[in-house]
Amino acid sequence: MKKVEVIHTPALLPLYDLKDKTVVVIDILRATSTMCVAFNTGVNKILPVASPDECRMFKDFDFIISAERNAVKVSGFDMGNSPFEYENPFLAGKNIAFTTTNGTKAIKMAKAMQPHKILIGSFLNISAVAKRIIALDKEVVLLCSGWKDKYNIEDTVYAGALIHQLSEYFEVADDAAFSAYSLYRQYQHSLEDLVRQSSHAKRFTLLNVQTDDVHFCLQQDIYDFVPEMDGEFILNKSLASGIRA
Ligand code: MLT
Repeated sequence: MKKVEVIHTPALLPLYDLKDKTVVVIDILRATSTMCVAFNTGVNKILPVASPDECRMFKDFDFIISAERNAVKVSGFDMGNSPFEYENPFLAGKNIAFTTTNGTKAIKMAKAMQPHKILIGSFLNISAVAKRIIALDKEVVLLCSGWKDKYNIEDTVYAGALIHQLSEYFEVADDAAFSAYSLYRQYQHSLEDLVRQSSHAKRFTLLNVQTDDVHFCLQQDIYDFVPEMDGEFILNKSLASGIRA
């Protein structure tokens, strides 16, 4: 049986081999959740970018420029990283250059390690992600974006939720995956209560974030597509090919 590994933060990536594996990048609050909303709105493609300075350059190439640092929209950019911003029909057909504190950094780090495929995972499309992983039939790595290379609970409990959906096809590789799975099984019926106690949820409260991003990002299976990396871009190829996961 193929194995599923969980990397709890990008700082641990040097300990792992991603070559020829299916990698799911996870940033529940909020980059990968927000990317799924953007594609549901009809965004054409998303370019993950390392820094706000690099991201700003794409304005000259007719990109929407989106930047978040420390959970706040960076001044001078078109958009930040709240999923609610990306329900705007104006975005249909647009290309977005996107940089966030953790999620886009994890995507770019994973890309450099020659994976077979990089999928964008969120609760919003969790079953579609599980179906895609099973169809790809490769060893699996679930990469949690964490917070500035520290562990966060929302990404790890999502990894456990995904393992739960994969359990007939993949076995947990080690304690890191087993701990994620155990966390999910303990809190599967009270996920929002758990995540509302997270450091990031508390950060939102301290920042007086007016939208309920925690509740929104914990909704399950509102989308049946899986954004994935194609070259340097993230695309929603399932729409392009008419395949719904
Ligand atoms: C991110 O998405 O990189 C971060 O988790 C920060 C956020 O969006 O609040």
